[in-house]
Amino acid sequence: MLMTGDALNGWTPQTFASDTTFRLPYSPDHALLARRLRTEVLDGRGFAVVTGTPAGTMSTRAAQEFATSMLGHLGEPLVQGRGPDTSLGWLVRDEGVSSYTDDRRFHENAYTSKSRGYLHLHNDRAVQPFGQEPDCVALLTHRKAMRGGASVLVDGWTVHRILRESSPHALDLLSTPYPVDRRHVTPQGESPVVWAPVFEQADGRVQVRCNLKRIETAGELTGEPIPPHQRAALETLRQVLARPELKLTIPLEEGDCLVIDDRRVLHGRTSYEDHSDAARRRCLVRVMLRCAPGAEPPAADVYAAREVFHLVRPIQA
Ligand SMILES: [Fe+2]
Repeated sequence: MLMTGDALNGWTPQTFASDTTFRLPYSPDHALLARRLRTEVLDGRGFAVVTGTPAGTMSTRAAQEFATSMLGHLGEPLVQGRGPDTSLGWLVRDEGVSSYTDDRRFHENAYTSKSRGYLHLHNDRAVQPFGQEPDCVALLTHRKAMRGGASVLVDGWTVHRILRESSPHALDLLSTPYPVDRRHVTPQGESPVVWAPVFEQADGRVQVRCNLKRIETAGELTGEPIPPHQRAALETLRQVLARPELKLTIPLEEGDCLVIDDRRVLHGRTSYEDHSDAARRRCLVRVMLRCAPGAEPPAADVYAAREVFHLVRPIQA
């Protein structure tokens, strides 16, 4: 859907009169729910929170199946993971991974989804995880943290507008390819570096690929530092992303499912403290989706049958 006018300028937290603006009550009619999500997420503001799903009352395995089945009506769930460790419903939970080494350097091999630290703003498709370019990313809250762990969103279209108005030269540079380090999600036999512009026009819309940490560390792989003029453009982008007035913070309750247009909206997370009882610890189910425009996805049951569950793997420390 081609969007014009104010919608293309993006939102800020002040755009929403209240949280209810972007909350969507759960319906067991998943086809109906998907139609509503399509309107609100893909053709609307770029995200929505489905509230009141039964995921909080389920076993973890059942929550994975439920997430894949429910969201399979919105798009095609994409495989996450590598080798024998693959899943359509990826578990986002603290498995002792730190995103930073002891000297506070970003730890490029870590799955940040398996940590409990603060997560910087990014979108998942920036690293083309496991060879996929998701259109949507959904996070279903199975268990919430004892404290913290809220999602933080920034509209990439708003960032694009600000750069267009205040730093057009930086925006031009950010529309040229940058290397992105994807060591942690490289498919078998493929390059650990992908090249892509941060902003590009596609299908009449601005699309975003943004992961500043992973662009920073990509130089270690290419052997070439990013030229000063491109580095300056990244710094301009970093300063816009740091503006608190652009950040929408959403605490997710058990059963809430955050659905994001990953081509548009950046996401991050506040750090959290977990319960001492292992059974109560924070656990989200992440589903990545390909949502072809206008395409009716196949019946969701197909995905339940194809599901390969996340297996315990050695922690990448
Ligand atoms: Fe992410």
